Amino acid sequence: MVEVKGLVKRYGSLTVLRGVDVTFPPGVTALVGPNASGKTTLLKSILGLVIPQEGSIHVMGEPVTGHPEIRRHVGYMPQMVQFPENLTLKEILEWVQDLRNVRVDLEPWVSWVGLEEFVDKPFGYLSGGTRQKVGMVAALMFDTPVLILDEPTAGLDPLSNTRFKEKIREERDRGKTIILTSHILSELEGLADRVVFLLEGKIIFEGSREALLDHTGKPDMEQAIAYLMQENGSEVR
Ligand SMILES: Nc1ncnc2c1ncn2[C@@H]1O[C@H](COP(=O)(O)OP(=O)(O)O)[C@@H](O)[C@H]1O
Ligand SMILES: [Mg+2]
Repeated sequence: MVEVKGLVKRYGSLTVLRGVDVTFPPGVTALVGPNASGKTTLLKSILGLVIPQEGSIHVMGEPVTGHPEIRRHVGYMPQMVQFPENLTLKEILEWVQDLRNVRVDLEPWVSWVGLEEFVDKPFGYLSGGTRQKVGMVAALMFDTPVLILDEPTAGLDPLSNTRFKEKIREERDRGKTIILTSHILSELEGLADRVVFLLEGKIIFEGSREALLDHTGKPDMEQAIAYLMQENGSEVR
C-alpha cells in the first residue's frame, strides 16, 4: 500500500505535481497520462529519489521522507534501465544484492527471461530490450511487497512481453502492490485492476477499470482516457 497526500513538486518555475492525493492499494494500478504529465516524477517521489516541496508519502505505513530504508519494501524498474556499462550482468546482479544486503538465487531469474548467454557480457554490450529484462529482474528478485515499474513493456519482443505480464499477474495474486505506467494504454488492458489518470500534474481520475469505463461510457481504457483528455482540454498526443 502506498499513500500520497498533497504532493507538490516544482522544478524552478515549473510545477510538475500540483497537489496529488492518491492511494495505491494491493493489486495492479496503471498510472497513465500523456508525456510530461508527471508520472515518473510521482514514482521517483515515492522512491525518495525526488524530494517534493509539499505533501507526504507513506509506503507500507511508513513515511518516505527522511527514511531511505523504506526502499527495502520496493522493487523499482526505471523507465531507462542504467547500470555501469563496464560491469557484466553477473556483476550487476551481485552488486544490487550487495546494495540491499540480501542474497538471492540468481539462476531462476537469469533463465526466466533467457539471459543465460549474457551473464558474462558487459552491460554496455546489451541491446535495449535485454537491458529492460535486466531491469525487470533487478526489480522483482527481492520479492518486495511493492513494485514500481515505469514503462516496463515499452519496446519488448512479444515473448518477453507475455512473460512480463504473466509475472506481474502472479505477483498481483500474491497480494503485492504494483504500480505501472505506460503511455500505450492497450498494453495495460487485461493487467490493470485500477487506473490513475494524471494530467499536467493533477489526478483527473482514480478508480477501478470498470468505474473508468462506466464513468466515460467507453468500451476500453484507451478510448476512455482519450475521452478524459479531450474533456479536460488536453491535446491527444
Ligand atoms: N530533474 C528535472 N528538472 C527539471 N524538470 C524536470 C526534471 N524531471 C522532470 N522534469 C519535467 O517535469 C515534467 C514531468 O516529467 P515526467 O515526470 O518525467 O513526466 P512523464 O513521466 O509523465 O512523461 C516534464 O515537463 C519534465 O521536463
Ligand atoms: Mg515517464
